[in-house]
Amino acid sequence: MLIKTDNKGFTHAVPSEITPRGIYQQRRDLIKLMATGAAGAAVATWAGREAFAQAVAKPGKLAALPGAKSGAAGAVTMEKVTDYKDATSYNNFYEFGTDKADPAKNAHTLVTKPWTVAVEGLVKQPKTYAIEDLIKLSAQEERIYRLRCVEGWSMVIPWVGYSLAELIKKVEPLGNAKYVEFITQADPKTMPFVGSRVLDWPYVEALRMDEAMNPLTLLTFGMYGEVLPNQSGAPVRLVVPWKYGFKSGKSIVKIRFTDKEPRTAWNKAAANEYGFYSNVNPSVDHPRWSQATERRIGEDGLFAKKRKTLMFNGYEAQVGQLYAGMDLKKFY
Ligand code: MTE
Repeated sequence: MLIKTDNKGFTHAVPSEITPRGIYQQRRDLIKLMATGAAGAAVATWAGREAFAQAVAKPGKLAALPGAKSGAAGAVTMEKVTDYKDATSYNNFYEFGTDKADPAKNAHTLVTKPWTVAVEGLVKQPKTYAIEDLIKLSAQEERIYRLRCVEGWSMVIPWVGYSLAELIKKVEPLGNAKYVEFITQADPKTMPFVGSRVLDWPYVEALRMDEAMNPLTLLTFGMYGEVLPNQSGAPVRLVVPWKYGFKSGKSIVKIRFTDKEPRTAWNKAAANEYGFYSNVNPSVDHPRWSQATERRIGEDGLFAKKRKTLMFNGYEAQVGQLYAGMDLKKFY
């Protein structure tokens, strides 16, 4: 995602340079078909493969994590859910490499048992939770949310978890707690890219207290009815659907309540490109590319048009009031 040549000698691809995996595959298929004079059959072949992918895209590899379908406002149900295989093979998890395919290849080394999450800082009831207890703290729900990455792609994923607010209520924040910081695992023994100079480890993200309390903010333990696969942030991650994907920290080990706005990983790496708020906003461009449209992963056929990006990723009715009166160009 850091996408420039920085002064530390890392060269990162810009989004426009990356050929989406599907398109690349389809181009190769097309070239093969053309070579055999069968180009006319190409469209039908692609359509058929799409239907086939939907039909066979059942996980069934990991422990089930059943959640009742959520009626929570904002849980998208009308859009086509991204194929499980795409959602778990095209990832950003820099602890396991910077290529989209790296996390699926490398994250098997992540050790998720035993796992604890320490809740600390400005709270009346600080506590270290074993992951098993954290999962049981409140009823799991399945919520279908869009995830829009700052790089210009998006997915629609059935996440399983409960509102972070449920945990926050249990630990009773003090009156001066204004922010919640999420500190993620940074173990160089099990995460091969921790120690690389791309980011300052651990990967840290944070929200303002009212954002953290918003019912849409999901403390997430599973997806597609199963526990999270490692590359998706096992055993617990955040999903904040109205913000760019990098606000959704993976493999969380600490949740800390503070009175000052925390420095976050991407903000530290490039403050002029990645702000604290990072709300999805089609009218505020990234300094090096537009944010007006997005490519839905799995819909990247030759004829697929890019989608228009929606304000707050389509969750404006639920969260717009959190930013009333704020200049969102300044607080990007
Ligand atoms: N969390 C950690 N710990 N490390 C990361 O590199 N990448 C972020 C976010 N959480 C990241 C992270 C980014 S840039 C995005 S877009 C989302 O995770 C991607 O989530 P997904 O791979 O499940 O789609």
